[in-house]
Amino acid sequence: MTAYQSNRGHKKGGRLVNYTGPCAARVTGFGLHGSDESRVAKKSVDLLVRTPREWVAAVMADFNAFLADHANCERKASALAMSMVVKYPDRQRIIPGLIDLAREELAHFAQVYSLMQARGIPLVKDSQDPYVNELIALMRHGRDERFLDRLLISSLVESRGAERFRLVSEAMEEPELRHFYRDLWACEAKHGHVFVEMALVYFDAAVVYARLHELAGREADILRRLAIRAALH
Ligand SMILES: [Fe+2]
Ligand SMILES: [Fe+2]
Repeated sequence: MTAYQSNRGHKKGGRLVNYTGPCAARVTGFGLHGSDESRVAKKSVDLLVRTPREWVAAVMADFNAFLADHANCERKASALAMSMVVKYPDRQRIIPGLIDLAREELAHFAQVYSLMQARGIPLVKDSQDPYVNELIALMRHGRDERFLDRLLISSLVESRGAERFRLVSEAMEEPELRHFYRDLWACEAKHGHVFVEMALVYFDAAVVYARLHELAGREADILRRLAIRAALH
């Protein structure tokens, strides 16, 4: 029996762990109207630079450290989704989606923690994430501007996570981990789109995509400067 299996539960350490797959939660549907559907169909999250191969090498060289950091990233992603529910209780059309996201990220945390337990790797205290901190510093003031930036920065972080999980999956020889990261890749790519869809509920497509493109350029600058380490960012 493996520590991670999608779409089923299993006994681990005498305890049943229920996994319903990395993308178990339904994080779709924000009550868009007919004319809105074409806007959603247009959705795309294009990262402007690729992660360097050196990053993959650093992760593979200290995979245990990467797992511990990854667990913290999933936990923080869940907390971030719920913090948006707290910050924006009036944005009712996206609250169910945010709750779904929080659940899904928490499920990812549980899955990564399970992998860590199986390998005898302890959780570590949170450390500074310079990539995320620099992105947060780009958020504008003003209620609407900040709300839009928060959604779009979240989208970029999710899309970058997806790209990196794909790289980890491709480099991984251990089948269990290869499949786990392949599933996560698909899931985080979906999250990247979900945050753009949420933005499209409240803002014009032209505004959303112009700002997304602008932020993607800044994300690329940050990534180019980022020190390479065995961590998600
Ligand atoms: Fe996740
Ligand atoms: Fe995610």
